[in-house]
Amino acid sequence: MLTLRGGGPRRGASLSNLGLVKDGALLVRDSVIATVGTRAEVEKLPEARAAEKLDLGGRVALPGFVDSHTHLVHAASRAEEYELKIAGASYEEIARKGGGILNSVNKLRAATADELKKRAKAALRQFAAHGTTTVEAKSGYGLDVASELKILKLHKELAAQQPLEVASTFLGAHVVPEEFRKKADGAERYIKLLEESLLPAIAEHKLAEFCDVFCDRGAFTVAQAKRVLQAGRQWGLAPRMHAEQLSRTGASQLGMLLRAVSCDHLEQVNKKDIQAFGKTETVATLLPGCDFHLGLKKYAPARELIEAGAIVALATDYNPGTSPTLSMPMILSLACTQLRMTPAEAIAAATINGAYALRREKRVGSLEVNKQADIAVFEVADYREIPYYFGVNHCWMTLKRGRAIHAANEPTT
Ligand code: NIG
Ligand code: FE
Repeated sequence: MLTLRGGGPRRGASLSNLGLVKDGALLVRDSVIATVGTRAEVEKLPEARAAEKLDLGGRVALPGFVDSHTHLVHAASRAEEYELKIAGASYEEIARKGGGILNSVNKLRAATADELKKRAKAALRQFAAHGTTTVEAKSGYGLDVASELKILKLHKELAAQQPLEVASTFLGAHVVPEEFRKKADGAERYIKLLEESLLPAIAEHKLAEFCDVFCDRGAFTVAQAKRVLQAGRQWGLAPRMHAEQLSRTGASQLGMLLRAVSCDHLEQVNKKDIQAFGKTETVATLLPGCDFHLGLKKYAPARELIEAGAIVALATDYNPGTSPTLSMPMILSLACTQLRMTPAEAIAAATINGAYALRREKRVGSLEVNKQADIAVFEVADYREIPYYFGVNHCWMTLKRGRAIHAANEPTT
C-alpha cells in the first residue's frame, strides 16, 4: 500500500517518498479513512473485526489519481486533424487555418447539452476505470455566453450525478472566438464580454472554482491574461494557467506573481522560470500526453524542475486536440520514459501533488486518517509496474469515498 503520507506538497527528494506499507490495510468509516497501518495492526482493532472486509489479494493499492487538468466536456474527436499532423502540419498551422480549438468550438456549439453530457459521463467512467477519482474540468470550447454556461452547468450536473469529484474551471480565455477576430480590438472586446457578462453569471450560480487562461502565441498575451485572471479573482475564482506550451511568453512568471494555483505545460520554460518554480507555492503541472500525441520531441524539463524544488504534478490534459487520453497510468509511463521521472516521483506527482494543484490536499491525494477513502488498486506485484506496463489497463478496482466504482471482470495480468 502506498500511503503518500506526510504533510506538505512533495518537492525534490520528498517526491520519491511514497510512504509504502507492506501488507497494509485501511479501516474506512463513513467514506473516510479511520485507521491506516499494517494488516496485523488494523485487523486487531475491535471496530475492524465488525467491519465488512475487502481483500485486495496482495495487489498494489494507492490513492486514486487526481487528474488536475482536463478539457472534459467536448463534442467530438479531431481525428481529421490527427492525419494532417502525421502528414507534417503543425498544431499552430492547423489552428491558423480555422482548425484546432475553433474546430472544437464549432462542434460544441452545435451539440446539445444531452449529447455533451452523455459523452462526458462515458469518459468519467473510463477515468474511474483507470484509477482516477478526482478530475478537474475546464470550459473553453464554447467561447460565447450561452455555450460557456452550458459547459459549466454540465460540470455541476456531472459532479452531482456520478461518483467522481469534478473541480470546475472557467477557461473562457482559451482563444479569441471567430466572431471577434474580424473586429478591431477583438481580443479586448472579447475579454470585456468575459468580465461583464460571463464572470458575474458564473459567480452568481457558483459554476466554477478556478479561472484559467491559455497564455501563448496565437492565444492571449501576458497583459491580457493578467486582466482575465484578476477579473476572475474579483469574482472569487482562483487563477491557474496554460503557460509556456508553444512559446516562452513569460506566462509562468505572471502565474507565480498572481499566486496562481498551478501553471501547466511548461515545455518552453527557461532557467529563470525553473528556479522561480523552486520558490513558489504555484504547482508546475506537466502534461506529457500533449507532446506524445503531437509527436513533439521537446518535453518539459521535469528533472530540472524537480532539482530546483518545484512542486511537480502530472495530469492527462484530456482534450481532443493535443491529448486524447484519460489514462493516468499512460501519463505515468510517459513521465518515466520521456520526462525521466522515476516511478515513485510520477506517482507522487499524480496523487498528492495533483491534489495540491486543485487545493484539495486536505481531503484527497494520500491515504491518511481523516482523508477520503479514494483508492486505486492495480493488478501488479510491484508499484513500479504501474508505469512499466503501458497501453494496457491494469487497474483492478477503484474506490471513491470507500465505495467500489470500478472493478475489473477478469484478472488484468
Ligand atoms: O491544453 N493549449 C491549449 N489548450 C489545450 C488544447 C486545446 C485544443 O487543441 O483543443 C491544451 O493543450
Ligand atoms: Fe489544456
